[in-house]
Amino acid sequence: MTQIGIRKTIPTLLFLVITARLDEAHKSQESENVPTSQEASPFDAEYLDRVWGGLSWKREHEMKTLNITLHLKIHPINPVAVLWEPATAIASYLEESCEENNNWVRGKKVLELGAGLGLPGLAAACLGGNVTVTDKPELLPWLQHGIDLNLKSIQNTSGEIRAEVLIWGDDEKIRSMPRQDLIIVSEAIYDISTVDDLISTMVRLSHDDTTIIVSQGVWIEGSTLEGAWTKFFHDSAEYFEFSPLPVEYDDSISFVGKVRKTSNTEEKISEISPGHTEL
Ligand SMILES: C[S@@+](CC[C@H](N)C(=O)[O-])C[C@H]1O[C@@H](n2cnc3c(N)ncnc32)[C@H](O)[C@@H]1O
Ligand SMILES: *[C@@H]1O[C@H](CO)[C@@H](O)[C@H](O)[C@H]1NC(C)=O
Ligand SMILES: *[C@@H]1O[C@H](CO)[C@@H](O)[C@H](O)[C@H]1NC(C)=O
Ligand SMILES: *[C@@H]1O[C@H](CO)[C@@H](O)[C@H](O)[C@H]1NC(C)=O
Repeated sequence: MTQIGIRKTIPTLLFLVITARLDEAHKSQESENVPTSQEASPFDAEYLDRVWGGLSWKREHEMKTLNITLHLKIHPINPVAVLWEPATAIASYLEESCEENNNWVRGKKVLELGAGLGLPGLAAACLGGNVTVTDKPELLPWLQHGIDLNLKSIQNTSGEIRAEVLIWGDDEKIRSMPRQDLIIVSEAIYDISTVDDLISTMVRLSHDDTTIIVSQGVWIEGSTLEGAWTKFFHDSAEYFEFSPLPVEYDDSISFVGKVRKTSNTEEKISEISPGHTEL
C-alpha cells in the first residue's frame, strides 16, 4: 500500500499548469458565471480552445450496456466544473461491475462527495441506484444541470437522483442524511486541510457494509497535492480497507474499499451515530 503508483507524468504536469491558469482566470470572475444555455459564448469557446486544446463544452459518456448516452456540460473557466478522468473511470467501472455482478448498484443508497458534474452519480442512477450527488453550494447549479440534461435516461431506469449541498464535516447536514451503501469520491483529494473532514464524513455516513470507491489523478511526488492524497490514504486506512481497482486509465489510481473488519473499527463505525463529533 506504500507504492500507490505516484508517477510523474506529462498529463499531471499539464493538469497542474491548466489548473493554475484556470484558477487565475477564475479569480478575475466576480461571481460564479453559470451559463443558462448549453452553448458556449464565443469568448468562452475561444478560451476553452486555447486552454484545453479544443475540448468541447459538451461532453458525452456512453453507457453501452444500457444503451444510454449521458450528456454533460463543462465549464471553461472554473476548474472544478470540468470532467476529470477519474469520474469517467468510476462511471465505467460501475457499469462493468453491474453487468458482471448482478446489477449490484440497483436499489442502493449512493452518495457522491465533491461530485463536481456528478458523472459517477448519474451513471449510478442509470444503474438503478438511489443517488445523492453533493458538492459545495457553487457547484449545485452544475449538478442540477447534469441531472436535468439526463433526466429522461434516469427516469427510464428504476434509479433516483438529487443534488444537495454537502460541505465535508458539516455536522448538521451529515446528521440529516441516512447512512449510504456506496460512497464515491472522484478527483477530490488535493487539499490537505479538508482531508480530516472528508474522512469523518465518509465514516459517519457509512454502515458496516458500505462500499467506498475513490479515484484520483496522480500528483507529482513531493507536492502538497500528493501530501493530501498520502494523508487521506494513510488516515482513512484506519476505517476502510482499500484494494486497487483495475481501471484502464494510466494517470489515475482507483481503489474500492470496505469498512475495515480487522480491528474494532467495524464496531466503532456502527457506534458513531450521525452527528457524533468523534474524529
Ligand atoms: C477537481 S473537482 C472533481 C469533480 C468531480 N468529482 C470529477 O471527478 O470530475 C473537486 C471537487 O471537490 C469539491 N470539494 C472540494 N472540497 C470540498 C469540501 N470541503 N466539501 C465539499 N466539496 C468539496 C469541489 O467543489 C470540486 O467540485
Ligand atoms: C438504443 O437507443 C437508441 C436511441 O434511444 C435506439 O434508437 C436504439 O434502437 C436502441 N438500441 C437498443 C439495442 O436498445
Ligand atoms: C431514495 O432516497 C431518498 C433520500 O434518502 C428517500 O427519500 C427515498 O425514499 C429513497 N427512495 C427509495 C425508492 O428508496
Ligand atoms: C427506455 O427503456 C426502453 C427499454 O429498456 C428502451 O427501449 C427505450 O429506448 C428507453 N427510452 C429512453 C428515452 O431512454
